[in-house]
Amino acid sequence: MSLNHETLASLVRPDSVNKRVYTDPEIFVLEMERIYGRAWIYVGHESQVKAPGDYHTTRLGDQDVVMVRASDGQIHVVYNRCPHKGAQIVPDGDGSAGKFFRCPYHAWTFKLDGTHLSAPLRNGLQNTCFDPKHPDFSMRRLARVDSYRGFVFASQASDGPDLKTFLNGVASSIDNLCDRSPVGEVEVTGGVFRVLQRSNWKVFYENLHDTMHAPVTHESSVVSARSQAAEMGAMPFELLIMDGNGEPYEFWEKLELRAYEYGHGYMEGIFDPTAATRDPVSNAHFAALAETYGEERARGILGMNRHNTVIYGSGSPHTVFQQFRVIRPIAVDKTLVEIQVFRLKGAPEAVFDRALTYANVINSPSSNVMPDDVEVYARCQQGNQTHGGDWVSMHRYAGTDRAVEDGFVSINGTSELPMRNQFAAWKRFMVDDAAQTQKQTQNQGDA
Ligand code: FES
Ligand SMILES: [Fe+2]
Repeated sequence: MSLNHETLASLVRPDSVNKRVYTDPEIFVLEMERIYGRAWIYVGHESQVKAPGDYHTTRLGDQDVVMVRASDGQIHVVYNRCPHKGAQIVPDGDGSAGKFFRCPYHAWTFKLDGTHLSAPLRNGLQNTCFDPKHPDFSMRRLARVDSYRGFVFASQASDGPDLKTFLNGVASSIDNLCDRSPVGEVEVTGGVFRVLQRSNWKVFYENLHDTMHAPVTHESSVVSARSQAAEMGAMPFELLIMDGNGEPYEFWEKLELRAYEYGHGYMEGIFDPTAATRDPVSNAHFAALAETYGEERARGILGMNRHNTVIYGSGSPHTVFQQFRVIRPIAVDKTLVEIQVFRLKGAPEAVFDRALTYANVINSPSSNVMPDDVEVYARCQQGNQTHGGDWVSMHRYAGTDRAVEDGFVSINGTSELPMRNQFAAWKRFMVDDAAQTQKQTQNQGDA
C-alpha cells in the first residue's frame, strides 16, 4: 500500500489509530520530514552553552545539529556538516569550539555562526568556481531559531507559526519552571541521563498522560515502596514518589488533562502542593520566593501543580521537579530519552538535590520506576508487529472532550484525550500541512 495522503489519513480515526504508525519504517521517514522537518523542536538550554565557543550537539529528528554561542553572545544552531566533504564538524556531546569551528578532515574553518572563514592553501582554489562567500561553502544554519526564557528551539521550515504561538498553552509550564527561581532563571547542571528505548517515539508521549497505566504497570515499584516504608515506619521522599503511582482509579479520575493545538498538553500534578509546603525543603523554597515576589505570588507559583507537560516533538518538562525529558526518535522502533535536570538559580541547594533525587528514582537508567514503562513500550512495539489485530484503541471518554478557549479539557482524568489530540496533530502535520506544502510547491512550479 503506497503512502499517499488518503492512505495516511485513513490510519487515524477519532477514537483509534492503525498500528502501522508505530511500526512502518516508511512512515517514520515521513515523520522526520513532515513533523521534525517543520515543527519547532527543543534544541537545548542556553545554560548548556555558557561561554563563547561552547557547543551542544543534538538531533532534530534525523538531523544532527549543533547549538553554539558566538563571541557576541548570540546563540546559533547549525547542521553538523562540513560543506567540503560532509564530515561532522564536532563530535557528539558538549564542548568548546574555541574562537571558530575547524573541520577535523582538511581544516576548513568557520565562524561560530557557520560562515566560511578559511580553507588551507587557497591558491589551489583560485581560478575555480570556489567562492568563500557563497552559502554552499559555509555550514548551513537552521531556518529559524528562537528562545523562550532560555529554552532554545529551532525549526527547519522558514514558514509556520512563531515559537510562542506554537507552544500556546504549554508555554505556561516553561514560565512556571523559570518562575520557581527567585531570579526567574534556570540552568542545566551536571550533564544528562540517557535511556535508549526499544519502541516508537510516539508511545512515550502517549504514556506521559496515560493515568490508567500507573497502578498497573508500576505495581512492583509501588509494592516495594510500601513494604519498605512499613519496615521503616516512615515514608521518605524517595519512597513517596514511587508510592504515588499506586493511587486507586478514583484518584486518577479526578485529575484534569489539558490538550492544545500541535499535540501539546499537560496533566495536573499528582502530589498535593499544600502538603508539599509542610516539608522543610518546600518551606525554604517558599521563603526564598516570598522574599523576591511577596507571599501571595510565591504561593501562586508553588501552587501551580503540574505533572508531566507534553511539548509534542520535543519532550516533557516537569515543572515541580525541574527536569526536561528530551525525546529523540532514532528509528521506527528506537527512541533516545535524555533527561536534563535544572537548578533554579537563587533557590536553596536542597531544592536542586530533591530534583536530582526525583530524576534518579523515577527517570534515570538506575530508576526503579522507569524500567516498568520501558518494558511495556517494548511490548507494544513487539505486539504491534504481529498479525494479531490492526487497531490501537483510544476510546476512553471519546466524544466527551470539552472545548475551551485555547484547547480541550478532559471531563475525567482517565480520558484518552491526550492521545486523540496528539494524533489529530500528527494527521495535520502528516497529511493536511503536507498537502498544502505540496500545492504551494506545485503553484510555484507552474508560475
Ligand atoms: S571535510 Fe571538512 S575540510 Fe574536508
Ligand atoms: Fe509510568
